[in-house]
Amino acid sequence: MSMKLPFFKNKQIKVLKNTELSKVPHHLAIIMDGNGRWAKKRGLPRIAGHKAAMDVVQNTVRTAIKYDIKILTLFTFSTENWKRPRPEVDFLMKLPKEFLHVYLPELIENNVRIETIGDFEGLPEGTKKVINHAKEKTRNNDGLLLNFAINYGGRFEIMKAVKQLAADIENKELQADAVDESVFSRYLFTNGLPDPDLLIRTSGEQRLSNFLLWQLAYSEFWFTDTLWPDFNETIFYQALVEYDQRIRRYGGL
Ligand code: FPP
Repeated sequence: MSMKLPFFKNKQIKVLKNTELSKVPHHLAIIMDGNGRWAKKRGLPRIAGHKAAMDVVQNTVRTAIKYDIKILTLFTFSTENWKRPRPEVDFLMKLPKEFLHVYLPELIENNVRIETIGDFEGLPEGTKKVINHAKEKTRNNDGLLLNFAINYGGRFEIMKAVKQLAADIENKELQADAVDESVFSRYLFTNGLPDPDLLIRTSGEQRLSNFLLWQLAYSEFWFTDTLWPDFNETIFYQALVEYDQRIRRYGGL
């Protein structure tokens, strides 16, 4: 006897009208920290924290869409994370496949475009393949830009930009005099993207950990003690309320 699977349609997330907020970040960046501690508290292996983190990523995407945030940049793997034990690194490298296997249809349904920043070529072939597939499937979408920082390091990014810039000056494709902040920005992985308006870091740590060093120059920072696997819409909303109350002066008065 063949079993008919129930018809499953992905949820279409609606942008909330009439929120109490007078402004929301156009570009939100998040350092999703605390997976290991979350697992340890439960007597579980660290990878259990990373596994739980995936559903929180998708819930965060849903909330970002609801509040009409346009760009969400998530720190998923840093250039320093290769120093972790091999089994954990291997597990982290398999997460994009697991995540996209479950959630790519919903992301497509919701007009999300997937991109990455970081040293993409340094990733394992299987990881690159699955991410490239998702990029290809979503490249014409013009809803939320879901930007995974993977194998990303701020200093690496700046060094790479400086080397390319120097090469272009040497090849006479660029004049040293013409280099200003906007020209330099075009050499970064974030070329074309506006800087983040808000950075959230979970887990109580208050440091940048080599994330978006150039781009966060004038961003607002918001920290919570909540460990990433416990991050939810209520806490996300708290961050948005506090951001709404901040007055941004960009060095002016
Ligand atoms: C930091 O917690 C988290 C990471 C290094 C990995 C981030 C990965 C995810 C959030 C999973 C989602 C991935 C995809 C591709 C959707 P930690 O391990 O440093 O925690 P600890 O500081 O408590 O040890």
